[in-house]
Amino acid sequence: MTLQDEYKKISGLYRETVNEADSLKEVEKERVKYIGRSGAVNEIFKKLGTLSPQERPAWGKKLNILKSDITKCIEEKKSQFNKKDKAEDIFDPTLPGNFSTLPSVHPVTRILREIKHIFSSLGFGIAYGPEIETAYHNFTALNIPKDHAARDMHDTFYLDKEKNLLRTHTSPVQVRVMENNDPPYNIIAPGKCYRRDTIDASHSPVFHQVEGLMVGEDISFSDLKGVLAEFAELFFEGTSVKTRFRPSYFPFTEPSAEMDISCRICGGKGCSSCSQKGWLEVLGAGMVDPEVFKHCDVDSNRWQGFAFGMGVERLAMLKYGINDMRFFYLNDMRFLEQF
Ligand code: DAH
Repeated sequence: MTLQDEYKKISGLYRETVNEADSLKEVEKERVKYIGRSGAVNEIFKKLGTLSPQERPAWGKKLNILKSDITKCIEEKKSQFNKKDKAEDIFDPTLPGNFSTLPSVHPVTRILREIKHIFSSLGFGIAYGPEIETAYHNFTALNIPKDHAARDMHDTFYLDKEKNLLRTHTSPVQVRVMENNDPPYNIIAPGKCYRRDTIDASHSPVFHQVEGLMVGEDISFSDLKGVLAEFAELFFEGTSVKTRFRPSYFPFTEPSAEMDISCRICGGKGCSSCSQKGWLEVLGAGMVDPEVFKHCDVDSNRWQGFAFGMGVERLAMLKYGINDMRFFYLNDMRFLEQF
């Protein structure tokens, strides 16, 4: 066959055969057949020598154009298959669907709800107080004197000259409850607190506490122990957690104590999570100081009771085994989705 005949044959044929290919493998076969190293087009190129020198340049050009047309045709065909192979173009009803993330409750909110639920089941009501407090309610009425370290500018966000501030704890809610109601009292007060702390693994300038107050005519330290041990058992459910009370000091309680729970990671043997102590501090508590009763006009000869305060983030960290408080405030979905 002459070069011209072969050119005619191939240029009339390639489109049809390439389009008939029904897989990428078939297309590749067509490519090798037409424009591979020993494909049809190269065979025609070899015949250029049979033409006169005047004819050669024009035919050389034609053959190059044919080669690039075939290349284009093959690429187009390939792209059809590539598209088809993409998963989104195939509807397979047997595959599991794409689930979007379900909304969930923030771990701090979740722990707050659990704490409220437990104390409600023990007969406590819920009281709320303002986050902008007076220095009187936040400090003075709680027997925290003017020169006490807690009042320092370093710890407290003052809103004006030492009169109004962002509450540093939820304890002022006990004062407000006692000021505005007659005893007996049986409440918890959950809420946000603020301190001028630098953010680190165990500090945040905004955090949450739950305060508690139980006052009656016959309330003793053993009630305090009973209620708080019961709380620990319900909160750390199923892990037979042990509690112990250590003497401590708070200006608004006398005597004061701190409650520890046995370390849930080592079971009390001592490990790095509990600094080898086997115990972890969870809350402060004590019998309401008569000075506090006096500020609230409650007769301490007739009424007595206990108060306690717990850090919500700390309880959440202990319950879920979280070692850095910052996780609660980073809004990282990988963390939040786990709750
Ligand atoms: N207000 C204390 C604090 O922020 C916590 C606390 C300790 C509250 C003992 C109490 C209590 O009611 O009795 O650290």
